[in-house]
Amino acid sequence: MGSGEARGMSDAAAMVRAFEIQAGACATFGSPFSAALLDRAARDIEAGGPLADLLAPWRGRSARVLVGEAVAIRWLGGAHDLVLSGEDPALAHTYPAPGRPGDAEAAWSALREAMIARPERFATFMSHEPQTNEVRRSACLLPGFLTIARETTLPLRLFEIGASAGLNQLWDRYHYDLGQAGEWGDPGSPVRLDTAWSGPAPPLEAAVSVISRAACDRKPVDFRDPAARRRLEAYMWAGQSERLARLDAALAMALAADIRVEAEDAVTWTARRAVPEEGAATVLFHSIFWQYLPTETQAALTAAVGDLGVRASATAPFAWLRMEPSPTSMADVQLRLTLWPGGEDRLLAHVHPHGASVEWVAAA
Ligand SMILES: C[S@@+](CC[C@H](N)C(=O)[O-])C[C@H]1O[C@@H](n2cnc3c(N)ncnc32)[C@H](O)[C@@H]1O
Repeated sequence: MGSGEARGMSDAAAMVRAFEIQAGACATFGSPFSAALLDRAARDIEAGGPLADLLAPWRGRSARVLVGEAVAIRWLGGAHDLVLSGEDPALAHTYPAPGRPGDAEAAWSALREAMIARPERFATFMSHEPQTNEVRRSACLLPGFLTIARETTLPLRLFEIGASAGLNQLWDRYHYDLGQAGEWGDPGSPVRLDTAWSGPAPPLEAAVSVISRAACDRKPVDFRDPAARRRLEAYMWAGQSERLARLDAALAMALAADIRVEAEDAVTWTARRAVPEEGAATVLFHSIFWQYLPTETQAALTAAVGDLGVRASATAPFAWLRMEPSPTSMADVQLRLTLWPGGEDRLLAHVHPHGASVEWVAAA
């Protein structure tokens, strides 16, 4: 066996591993159909099938890099996009729908044919980095905002970074069912978010008034563009119709509220925009964003946040609220809050990455 062949084999092994890791995540987080598709995809890569050709741009990368670049999610999204496009009714019929579990074997056969017939369609979709906007994360952020409102007793100025389409900017207009902790928000809201709550209740009685909201993203998702909107939907996992319905309801609200996301890097935007002001609590927040920053950007942003904290006062406080995996375990997503003056870093909750559960651990 030549060295080229040996290298080819190790490339395939890394790809297979990346697809298997994603299959495990889909199985754990509620999409057995996507997990089954990814398992079949992994076997196709091993056998040098049409998917192996589509993965040519990532040859030579380690499994870790492939997971970081979300290669399996790109492929899964490309497949779902074809379903949502209506261009392949036979394939669409194999996917799960309300009252229908889906047929992963038949879906895989149809996808394999589609990859052979139209590889460029998949390649084009997969060349973009995946961008999602998970509105149920608002259910994890909400108790953080309530904590800030209760402790500062001031109206809130909101600044979101890495906002994607900006759907979590409207968190105060959604309705929440927090299980045993109670309910919060407008009972008539078209966006209804439920989460499995454990631990003590958050300060649901805090008076909340949002006086301004702004957001940035390196590459905002323009939901006014139908293609970008369908791309957001495509990254939802097949069979999770509730997740898709929540996204569509939030997109309709964002359109009506004329939500905007500014195209700028988070570091410069934060330093320029999120400066504390008298008479309000200035809140910088983000969710599932930190891991996408290079180490030096993380350091620059931490420094910018620290500078803003130093400028805070009791009548112009500054809060840094974030829902991010802990530095030591991607599986442990945490809600943390640092509030200036004072600047003590607090763990408020352990949360599900898509918002399905909240374990509130903050001291009363
Ligand atoms: C996984 S998405 C999360 C979106 C949203 N926060 C949510 O929870 O649904 C991460 C977002 O971070 C953005 N992003 C990555 N690096 C960035 C940077 N340096 N400045 C601003 N946005 C960035 C990406 O464009 C992407 O929209």
